[in-house]
Amino acid sequence: MTIVAVAMIVNVITMNKRVKRENQMKKQKPFFVTFEGDDGCGKSTQLKLFLEYLQNKGYDFISTREPGGTIVAEEVRRIMLHLKEDISAEEEFLLVSAGRANHVRTKIKPALNEGKIVVSDRFYDSSFAYQGAGGVSFDKIKRITEDVIQGCEPDLTFWLCIKPERTVERRVVRNGEYQDRFEEKNLDYHNAVFENYEKVAKMYSKRVCVINADQTIENVFKDVVSAFEKLY
Ligand code: TYD
Repeated sequence: MTIVAVAMIVNVITMNKRVKRENQMKKQKPFFVTFEGDDGCGKSTQLKLFLEYLQNKGYDFISTREPGGTIVAEEVRRIMLHLKEDISAEEEFLLVSAGRANHVRTKIKPALNEGKIVVSDRFYDSSFAYQGAGGVSFDKIKRITEDVIQGCEPDLTFWLCIKPERTVERRVVRNGEYQDRFEEKNLDYHNAVFENYEKVAKMYSKRVCVINADQTIENVFKDVVSAFEKLY
């Protein structure tokens, strides 16, 4: 093959890639996706696969997490997850809410304003689930959260739904220690977390997509992608 022929082929390939990307960008719109579920539900694996999927499709996206996502909110995370002092569920909720306010204002909203897809590992539904299980009322969580998020609601939330007794083994001690304060709580607590997620799914049935997480990784991921593609 001559150098000219090779150059032409390379040119065509590059052009095809550019056109594909431009088409993708045309379809791009701001979209806020959150992943929820109790510890050990397989959320990290599904998140990783979903981010790879977005990357392969050429979407413009950011990934973030809660607690955390910004310098300030990562400090909150450190306190939340590894504090040795006693802290009430109410205080936990106010702490995580302060981090969330900063996260929404400085990271999530600006990215959505730029037309990006934002993918967050947990958002305020986790407060209903966990601080709710600790005794904070749904009314209070709702009231304060409305102030904190200033209308920044997820467009789609995946709840990776699996009964806590099926994930007990995944919350076991690693390297002689639990990963964080929440993993070491007992089965009753995790059952309460599950029931709260059920309530959240009913309360926000328009955006919450309940995914059966008690299947193979591949099948769970198929369900995630098909729900996303229906809406995006
Ligand atoms: P993380 O290590 O991210 O756990 P996971 O991999 O299960 O997401 O720790 C997050 C923990 O923080 C998790 O146990 C739930 C808890 N959490 C709350 O209690 N309230 C909240 O509002 C959020 C966002 C998280």
